Amino acid sequence: MFQGWGNRILVLNSLQAINDLIEKRAHKYSNRPNLVFAGELIGLNQTVTWLPYGERWRAYRKLLHTALSPVQVKEYHSMQEGIAVSLCKGLLDKPEDFMHLVRMSAGRIIIAITYGIPDTPAQEEYISDGARAAETFARSSIPGKYLCDLLPFLKYAPSWVPFQREAREARELLMGIRRRPFEHVKRNMKSGIALPSLVQNLLSSPPEDVPSSEFEHRVFLVAGSMFGAGFETTLGTVLSFIMAMALNHDKQTKAQAEIDAVIGGDRLPTIQDSPSLPYVNAVIKETMRWQPAVPMGLPRHTFEDDVYGDYYIPKNTTILPNVWAIAYEANDKYDPEAFIPERFLDDTQDIPDPLTWIFGFGRRVCPGRYLAENSVFILAATILSTFDVLPPEDDKIVQEFRQGIGRTPKPYKCRIVPRSGAKARLIESRASNSNA
Ligand code: HEM
Repeated sequence: MFQGWGNRILVLNSLQAINDLIEKRAHKYSNRPNLVFAGELIGLNQTVTWLPYGERWRAYRKLLHTALSPVQVKEYHSMQEGIAVSLCKGLLDKPEDFMHLVRMSAGRIIIAITYGIPDTPAQEEYISDGARAAETFARSSIPGKYLCDLLPFLKYAPSWVPFQREAREARELLMGIRRRPFEHVKRNMKSGIALPSLVQNLLSSPPEDVPSSEFEHRVFLVAGSMFGAGFETTLGTVLSFIMAMALNHDKQTKAQAEIDAVIGGDRLPTIQDSPSLPYVNAVIKETMRWQPAVPMGLPRHTFEDDVYGDYYIPKNTTILPNVWAIAYEANDKYDPEAFIPERFLDDTQDIPDPLTWIFGFGRRVCPGRYLAENSVFILAATILSTFDVLPPEDDKIVQEFRQGIGRTPKPYKCRIVPRSGAKARLIESRASNSNA
C-alpha cells in the first residue's frame, strides 16, 4: 500500500487476491477513482469506462451490450474477415506501412460497429481523430500524473494555469471528435441510408421511460466510449503480435504450418476456424501475456472499509490489479521473459489463461472482450496465412512501448513478405464485405 497527500493506492500482485477482492467482493470494489484532470476537467468520467459505479453506469453497460454481447458479435464475423483481407491487401502494396494499416484496421472495426460508417474518406478522418483522442486520454488518465489529481482543490485554479489550458483544449478536441461521426449517422438516418450500427439501432428504438434528448446524449457518450476503450487495446495487441513474430521465427513457422494443414492453400482463415487452430490461439495468448495491453489493469476505488487477511483496506483506496505480475510470474519450466506459446498447451502446467485476466475482472470486466478476441484472432491468422514477418535488414527490432494506462509498441521496423500464393488467395477472397 502506498500513501501520500491523502491518497492511498493498493497494488494487487496475485490473481488470488484480485479474484478474492474484485470478483468476490464486487459490491465494494467496482467503483473507479475520480480522476480530477481526465475525469472532471476533460470529461472522461462521462464515459462508461470511468463512470462511477451505480445506476447510470449500469444503464450505459446495458446499451453497450446491444452491440457487444456474445450473440451479437457473431453478426460482425464477415465484416471483421473483410477488414483482415483489406489489411493484407494493403500489406501487399505497402508492407513498410504496416503500423498505419493495422491502426486503420483496428479503427475500422470499431467505427463500423459503432456508427456503421463504411470505407470512405470520412471513415479515415474519424479514425485519425479517434486515435488522437485515445492518445490524449491515455496520457491524461494515469492516476497522479497531474497535481490536481493529488490536490483536488487545484481544479479551481485560474484558466491560464497550464494544466487548465491543456484540459480545455483536450475537452474541446474530444467533444468535436465524438460529435462528428454521431451527427453523420443522424444525417444518414434522416435520409434513410444509415447502415446498421450501435447508434442507428439505439436511436431507432428509444425507450419510453427516458426523455429523448437524455437518451440521445447517453447514446452519444456510449458510442464515444467504444472507440476510447477498444481502439488502442486492439491495436497494441496486434502490433505486439507482429513484433513477436518478427522476433520468434520458429513459433511463426509452427503457427503457419498449423494454418496450412487445417485450412489448406485455397482459402483464408475465418473466425469459425478458431477452435481448429490451437497453436495459433496459443500464439495469441502468449502475445497477450508477453505484452499485456493494459498492464496495471484499470484502477478501482473502494466504497467501504474492508479487511483481507491481515490487511486493513480503508474506504476510498485506489486498487490496481497488477496483471503484469501475473503475466511474469516465475515458472520453473517456462521462462516468463521468453515467447513460448507451448506453455498454454502443456497439461502439466497450471498457468492462468490470459483470456481470464487480460480483460479485467468482476462487474467491470471488459464488455468488448468477445469482439476483441475475434478481431485479434482474424487479423493475426490472416497475416500468418499470407505473410512471413521477418526482422528488418539490420536485424534490429526496436522493442519500446508507449506507456500510459495502455501499452502499445512505439514505431518499429520489420519486413513483411508475401508467402507463396498469398496474392492470388487475397484477390480471390471475399473481395469486400458490406461494412469493410
Ligand atoms: C485486446 C483488446 C482489449 C483489451 C486487452 C481490453 C482490456 C480491458 C480492461 C483490462 C478493462 C478494465 C476492466 C476492469 O476494470 O476490470 C476494459 C474495460 C473496458 N473495455 Fe476493453 N479491452 C479490449 C478491447 C475492447 C473493445 C474492442 C471494446 C469495445 C469496442 C472495449 C470496451 C471496454 C469498455 C467500455 C470498458 C469499460 C468497462 C467498465 O468500466 O464497465 N474493450 N477493457
